[in-house]
Amino acid sequence: MRHLEGKRIIVAISGSIAAYKMATTIRLLIKAGAEVRVLMTPAATHFITPLTLSTLSKNPVFSEVISEESWNNHVEMGLWADAMLLAPATANTLAQLANGLCDTIVAAVYLSARCPVFFAPAMDLDMWAHPATQANVKRLIDHGNHLIPVGNGELASGLSGEGRMAEPEDLVGHLHHFFGESQGKPEVQQTMAGKKVLITAGPTHEPIDPVRYIGNRSSGKMGVALALEAAKRGAHVHLILGPSVLNPAAAHLQVTRVDTAREMFKAASGAFEQCDLAIFAAAVADYRPEQTADQKIKKTEDALRLDLVKNPDIAATLEKQKQAHQRLIGFALETQAGEEHARQKLNRKNMDAIVLNTLQDEGAGFQHDTNKVSILTAADNKLRRFELKTKEQVATDILDVAEQWWPVKG
Ligand code: PMT
Repeated sequence: MRHLEGKRIIVAISGSIAAYKMATTIRLLIKAGAEVRVLMTPAATHFITPLTLSTLSKNPVFSEVISEESWNNHVEMGLWADAMLLAPATANTLAQLANGLCDTIVAAVYLSARCPVFFAPAMDLDMWAHPATQANVKRLIDHGNHLIPVGNGELASGLSGEGRMAEPEDLVGHLHHFFGESQGKPEVQQTMAGKKVLITAGPTHEPIDPVRYIGNRSSGKMGVALALEAAKRGAHVHLILGPSVLNPAAAHLQVTRVDTAREMFKAASGAFEQCDLAIFAAAVADYRPEQTADQKIKKTEDALRLDLVKNPDIAATLEKQKQAHQRLIGFALETQAGEEHARQKLNRKNMDAIVLNTLQDEGAGFQHDTNKVSILTAADNKLRRFELKTKEQVATDILDVAEQWWPVKG
């Protein structure tokens, strides 16, 4: 964690049960050599005491703009910091910050801060999925803030799903990674330096009318993890990302955002010729509505018939333009007879490797932070099976397989 040495970090905490994780987070930051100042919303003080956090951070903790008849200079704090970590970020605090409201010390410092801001949401699954929350998250990302994705798992309500705040190690890892990148001091060996990598990721949305679309459950996490890992290894990465709340940023990472399969196809086709390695991790809609209505389709009939037409198969089309030095990795998402279907896809799409993930495995596939894959390589017809791991670790395994192809003879 050497990239955090001497860094000045504001830890801003809002009122969620996940606040208990911030004691460990602050300890990790201090251990990594960072200087930490803690801010809390008044609600956060119900979940963890300022005394605990001031003891751990070795600095006073502020939870009001005015405390004990003195004014806490939020502008000075905003300018002092090298980074601000807002965690947990509740639905309420996200809404305030996204809309520029300012009635807490956390919001006042956020609005004054010139440093990068990272936010780690924490809430129940339905609050997280609510369009209002998603719109606020998107707005904060559009304002240049960095989302630390939520996890999937057991929630304080007893329900299970998306909305769990990232663990302390992940929070600190994001800051560490950011400063490592911005200082240009890579910690990972630059084993892919000079390589150009094209990655498709996320779902596609195929519009039915201005309101509705055909989509799927892909979050983009798997493809984004691959893109970040390849960039970490020194590759120049072009990520073509379908609709996703993720907003990855790293040195040597170019992101093109698309909505539909045809847009993804166009962007990938433009980048393909230059790439050494293409990884097709996107869940592309195989079909789209033949017609997109200009106006919202009204409910008039008992049944509505939609005519669908085939989308271009991006991987299969680009494979036909493959040059000798290029290597291609496809994914196979299966619900049954995975191995058999993966072998068929490997041959049909003429990939160098195919990554099989099946929805029969718990914690694998869409939306999870984890995945369980098998990698089938064409050259030796070998199937490597891996355990359930985080998508970041899965990305490492996939790129380790790809690296065995370097140096590739043209
Ligand atoms: O995004 P996450 O929530 O993290 O989920 C990750 C994932 C489950 C989406 C990912 O791991 C995955 O399996 N991606 C491929 C999903 C898929 O559509 O598989 P498929 O078996 O239908 O397609 C086979 C291959 O052809 C894939 O490489 C796919 O990207 C590609 N394809 C498919 C259709 C199409 N029109 N164009 C394509 O390029």
